[in-house]
Amino acid sequence: MELDTVRLGETGTYVSELAFGTWRFGRENDEGEVEIDEERAHELLDAYADAGGNFVDTADMYGGGDSERFIGNWLADRDREDFVLASKVYWPTRPDDPNGGGLSRKHLRRQIDRILDRLGTDYVDLLYVHRWDDDTPAEEFMRTLDGFVREGKVNYLGTSTLEPNAWKVAMANEMDYEPFRIAQPRYNLVNRETEPNYLPMCEAYGLGVVPWSPLAGGFLTGKYSRGEEPPAGSRGATDQQFCDSYLTDENFDVLEEVEAVADEVGASPAAVSLAWLLDHDAVTAPIVGARTVDQLAENLRATEITLSDEQFARLADAKSA
Ligand SMILES: NC(=O)c1ccc[n+]([C@@H]2O[C@H](COP(=O)([O-])OP(=O)(O)OC[C@H]3O[C@@H](n4cnc5c(N)ncnc54)[C@H](OP(=O)(O)O)[C@@H]3O)[C@@H](O)[C@H]2O)c1
Repeated sequence: MELDTVRLGETGTYVSELAFGTWRFGRENDEGEVEIDEERAHELLDAYADAGGNFVDTADMYGGGDSERFIGNWLADRDREDFVLASKVYWPTRPDDPNGGGLSRKHLRRQIDRILDRLGTDYVDLLYVHRWDDDTPAEEFMRTLDGFVREGKVNYLGTSTLEPNAWKVAMANEMDYEPFRIAQPRYNLVNRETEPNYLPMCEAYGLGVVPWSPLAGGFLTGKYSRGEEPPAGSRGATDQQFCDSYLTDENFDVLEEVEAVADEVGASPAAVSLAWLLDHDAVTAPIVGARTVDQLAENLRATEITLSDEQFARLADAKSA
């Protein structure tokens, strides 16, 4: 199986139809265990690249910088030009430093050089603002980000801000600077808050859409059961916030519809949930997360599924925004 490529929004760059997310690289869970160490990270990146994947998503704060470091070390044995690298900036990376987060010119200028250094490259293809910074004038950060593009440190700008910030992204794109060309919202069959405003804004401004948590953090794989404890070792077993937001009756109703379609097409619920996003007109390339090579292999099978119009609509109608 070989991943297809798609155009990255309205840019001239092509990326794999599924991006690979590295949020859990080097990250300690609530019990202080590293979820994905460097050896496992390199196995996952190898498996993704072997399937033809080229679109790798990270952020300056993932694993306290270890995600970017693991990717940079892995890339040292590869041709960097074969990959489209996306990173993000905003969240505090130095909690006791008042200038250690946000989108101020000071923080952005310091962080871009750290990101490039950890990744071992002289440019990133895509730099997202991880969240909106209401304390810094948009004029200040858009101008600074525009400078990064002019200097060749960044090819494209992206935003991973959430609702209700759609209008702020539109406002920034009306300025006379390099615009945001890609949006990275949370979007999956149970998180539909982007549908009324955010996705229409993306379409109106020509932004590509690269959804995060396409499997609702693993909920849509079907490994959680109504009224039962999360399976050992799963995200739900170590993350109460995940349980509170995802393990709800309303979401289990959606999962039942996903499982019904999965039976019909002979695939897993994870593959069907990803296939729904792959078929979605508004979506460019969902970011798959996986903790093991087996999970990744199962998720990549989404590209082999064809949903009928009726199945697509049933899944879409299982929950509304
Ligand atoms: N912009 C943002 O603010 C933002 C926020 C979040 C994520 N992201 C990006 O989006 C990427 C994906 O997010 P995500 O990790 O939440 O995605 P996800 O695909 O919704 O969830 C991934 C998790 O689900 C479980 N899983 C995945 N495939 C599975 C399978 N086949 N069978 C069983 N369990 C499976 C694994 O967790 P367990 O095995 O531990 O249960 C895995 O870590 C991140 O890596 C990051 O790059 C961005």
